[in-house]
Amino acid sequence: MSKTGFRTPSAVSIGGTTTIRRLESIDEYRQCEKLQEQIWGPADIGGNRVVAMLTAQENGGHVFGAFAESGELAGFAYSFAGYGPDRRPRLCSIMIAVDERFRGQGLGYRLKQAQRHDSLAKGIEVITWTFDPLQRVNAALNIRRLGAIARTYRANLYGNFTGLNSGLDTDRLVVEWWLRRHPRPSRWHAPSLATPICQVIADPRSGLPRIASTDHDVDSDTLFLPIPPSLAELKRVDLALAQDWRARTRELFGDYLGRGYVVVDFLTAGSWPGYVLRRPPC
Ligand SMILES: CC(C)(COP(=O)(O)OP(=O)(O)OC[C@H]1O[C@@H](n2cnc3c(N)ncnc32)[C@H](O)[C@@H]1OP(=O)(O)O)[C@@H](O)C(=O)NCCC(=O)NCCS
Repeated sequence: MSKTGFRTPSAVSIGGTTTIRRLESIDEYRQCEKLQEQIWGPADIGGNRVVAMLTAQENGGHVFGAFAESGELAGFAYSFAGYGPDRRPRLCSIMIAVDERFRGQGLGYRLKQAQRHDSLAKGIEVITWTFDPLQRVNAALNIRRLGAIARTYRANLYGNFTGLNSGLDTDRLVVEWWLRRHPRPSRWHAPSLATPICQVIADPRSGLPRIASTDHDVDSDTLFLPIPPSLAELKRVDLALAQDWRARTRELFGDYLGRGYVVVDFLTAGSWPGYVLRRPPC
């Protein structure tokens, strides 16, 4: 197995013109339910059914679909309107997903842009959502590509699941995407510019990444927190090791975000992908 250990599923080119627009018919909402079940597993999608999606769509939120020329739903983004602790309106993005066959072709990014345009048109300046910090693709999209930041870590936020999220506690980073600050100029190019807060080695037998040591006392303005290249592979081959990653990164995120550090970037250039954490100036 390669060090990156990432397997790209056989992709089908979406070709032609993909249309991003709101879901319009009950049949399209049913397609969206099916896609959710396919990706997360029927037990893990909870209440994200037609009634909830339709109600959100008609009350300040949205459900955007990415439609192939054939009319097939290739992806979606589902959000509802809410308020932040400052009582200002915000958009809460619940789910975004792209059918595995159509990934890596920019649809996820385009769906997020649709959310952004819709929010700005309503005078909303921030979109929040959560994601599993050990998921590399989500980190690359959310933090690196979109320029969102994260200041909050929630341990086992949604409880335990049996589908895509099975085997690990549902720890999540809470993302804030400040829309008027988009795109954020990327300042970090090499992990070497940041101080690592854990050492990762490749297991000599399996090649899987393992945390050899962690450091909770680093006093530096810029930190680097590596993650595994593929959580799915780690879970499949060595679930105990994946759980060890969860436990130890939970402690590191909890500790450093608790001290005021902010997740500001995500890098894939070094030996291991990972987050850049920055200490705000006093
Ligand atoms: C997350 C998800 C929606 C991304 O959709 P996508 O259409 O494949 O994403 P895009 O092609 O638009 O890629 C956007 C960015 O994501 C990152 N990305 C996408 N595929 C990647 C890969 N294989 N490796 C690393 N980064 C990747 C890149 O930063 C990319 O930007 P770039 O191409 O300019 O480098 C998709 O992977 C998915 O549905 N995952 C399962 C469901 C899920 O986890 N949803 C999010 C939580 S609700």
